[in-house]
Amino acid sequence: MNNINAGIIGTGSYLPQKIMTNKDLEKIVDTSDEWIRTRTGIEERRVVDSNIAASDLGVEAATKAIEDAGILAEDIELIIVATLTPDYTFPSTACVIQHKIGATKAAAFDLSAACSGFIYGVATGAQFIKSGLYKYVLVIGTETITKILDWEDRSTCVLFGDGAGAAVLGPVEAARGFKSFLLGSDGSGGDLLNQPSSGSKFPITIDSIANKDNTLKMSGSEVFKFAVRIMDQASQQAIDMAGLTIEDIDFFIPHQANVRIIEPAMKRLGLGMDKVYLNLNKYGNMSSASIPVALDEAIKSGSVKKGDTVLLVGFGAGLTWGSTVITI
Ligand code: ACO
Repeated sequence: MNNINAGIIGTGSYLPQKIMTNKDLEKIVDTSDEWIRTRTGIEERRVVDSNIAASDLGVEAATKAIEDAGILAEDIELIIVATLTPDYTFPSTACVIQHKIGATKAAAFDLSAACSGFIYGVATGAQFIKSGLYKYVLVIGTETITKILDWEDRSTCVLFGDGAGAAVLGPVEAARGFKSFLLGSDGSGGDLLNQPSSGSKFPITIDSIANKDNTLKMSGSEVFKFAVRIMDQASQQAIDMAGLTIEDIDFFIPHQANVRIIEPAMKRLGLGMDKVYLNLNKYGNMSSASIPVALDEAIKSGSVKKGDTVLLVGFGAGLTWGSTVITI
């Protein structure tokens, strides 16, 4: 095993232009701006046009990340796309993006870990750099979740939004880079958050569409309890594995599902909310795209500076969770 340090050397993000506010949702389902804000912290979300696919958003975010890293698409040797709304079941969205950006030397595959997907992606990509097999790996989280929502189900359709974020991983000096990775799963909770009719178990049929089984289903309060528990556990474990303490963490970028999940976790960890990057008010839950978009915004806005040690934590369908500590 080589001893190459892997880190993030460039980031990018892309949000569709179209904004849907809570007030807009009041016209579609029996909800209110007040309910959505107080229960989730979400004020608005972005929505793709019907002709836009996850790969289209991913290409935009990837192009910015590659430029930010100061490399060329041809330098990328592996593309990992985390998504629960791929363009197709196959071919992979990673291959679609590989072609569109002209990453002619890259291997490419999709990764299914829902909202933990970006953490799973960087944990996977970093191993190829550490081993010396590849120099540059592109990890993308991209989602068009609004396309799989049931717009008559107020308990889910108010929560999600579309977007994409990307990071280029590459070798970095010893003080920088990933310090720990924690990945976990509990498939016994698979029914709590899923798209029942979407694959080989219950293929999409006229009946499944009529029953809306091809849309996202969620047991909100069960997922909520899991998320609150796992958020601070996974955070603490990643900090411990890095040989650090909470005082060493300059900034925290959690999965952006609900501010009521993040606040209690921060309280238990002993981290002030001033150290947490939040953008769920603008974008809602973008699943695999939430963390990379927040990371890109935090870096570009100067909230996170070079040399800062940042904790990233995700959780989601599967059930899955993942956390990492990285010095930017
Ligand atoms: N507007 C108005 N009322 C609503 C809405 C809405 N949009 N949605 C639900 N309600 C009602 C319910 O019908 C219920 O009414 P009832 O008591 O008359 O039955 C009431 O509000 C309370 O519902 P709860 O589900 O108890 O509300 P809660 O406070 O738990 O908040 C929420 C619901 C926001 C969904 C919360 O449970 C949550 O955030 N869960 C976690 C979601 C999550 O993080 N999912 C993503 C995981 S990541 C991934 O992989 C995609």
